[in-house]
Amino acid sequence: QKPRIAVVGSLNMDLVISMRRMPRIGETIQGDDIHYISGGKGANQAVGCAKLGADVRMIGAVGGDGFGDQVMARMNAFGVAVDTVSVLKDSATGTATILHAENDNSIVIVPGANGMCTPAMMQAHASVIAEADALIVQLEIPRPAVEAALRIAREAGVRTIVNPAPALALTEEQIALGDYFTPNETEFEFYCGSSAANEDELFAQMRAWRTRFPHQTLIVTRGKHGISCLPADGDEIVTVPAPLVQVVDTTGAGDSFNAALCYGLAAGWSLEETLPLAVKAASHSVTVFGAQDGMPTMADLA
Ligand code: RIB
Ligand code: NA
Repeated sequence: QKPRIAVVGSLNMDLVISMRRMPRIGETIQGDDIHYISGGKGANQAVGCAKLGADVRMIGAVGGDGFGDQVMARMNAFGVAVDTVSVLKDSATGTATILHAENDNSIVIVPGANGMCTPAMMQAHASVIAEADALIVQLEIPRPAVEAALRIAREAGVRTIVNPAPALALTEEQIALGDYFTPNETEFEFYCGSSAANEDELFAQMRAWRTRFPHQTLIVTRGKHGISCLPADGDEIVTVPAPLVQVVDTTGAGDSFNAALCYGLAAGWSLEETLPLAVKAASHSVTVFGAQDGMPTMADLA
């Protein structure tokens, strides 16, 4: 039986504009290329889980526009069930405009329909969440909706993963609703309120986090350095290094890691089995252009 996963979060159309260098304020420059690619952290994670073989339901919202149709069609093609995605006729589908130069990028997100997600929408799909083996959320939809979804899961005894991306203020109570908390280093800095100058400081912060959230497994994703994890039921910080790969596009690497993590946990695997797979999945994803296309299947990871 396939692991069942509920993903609550954003769906975006990514407008990826490639250029030699970033424009300065007030400057007009010519770009080289534009690509319209389905994205959004929620949608990316849903696709990542489906490609690994999970039975995935997406809960979120798109607008009643062409981008919404395209994003939904893409999800469908990857095998994600989208009948629980609301189509909001009067809203625009979320967009992420990504200015992509060789060594820099900047992103402007316009939430559109994502910003209209409510606790009531989560209630309407409560059974989908309650019947899942795992729920994963991010922060590209309003926090009250995220919290409502997490409460439904908690109540039903469903494992929860909170991927706090982008980093936004959360209450202690909201954070504690995650059985797993998966910030990247920058996001973790935000939640700690201070930065770590080196690995020792990072580990000290992770241990301090543990005293605040004793029942939570903390996983900090560290880009090319892999991940470090302090499991809820252990005292050792485990670091899983990332393999060296030829990087083409890092967009969605975090989503790929989180998707594979969610897959393993939903399937009932141990962290020892799941973490290496998730690191491998993220590394695979950066070798392909676009957020969803590089997400691996199990066969790609074998
Ligand atoms: O995590 C990558 C995603 O973040 C992109 O697909 C873009 O939509 C932004 O939301
Ligand atoms: Na990619």
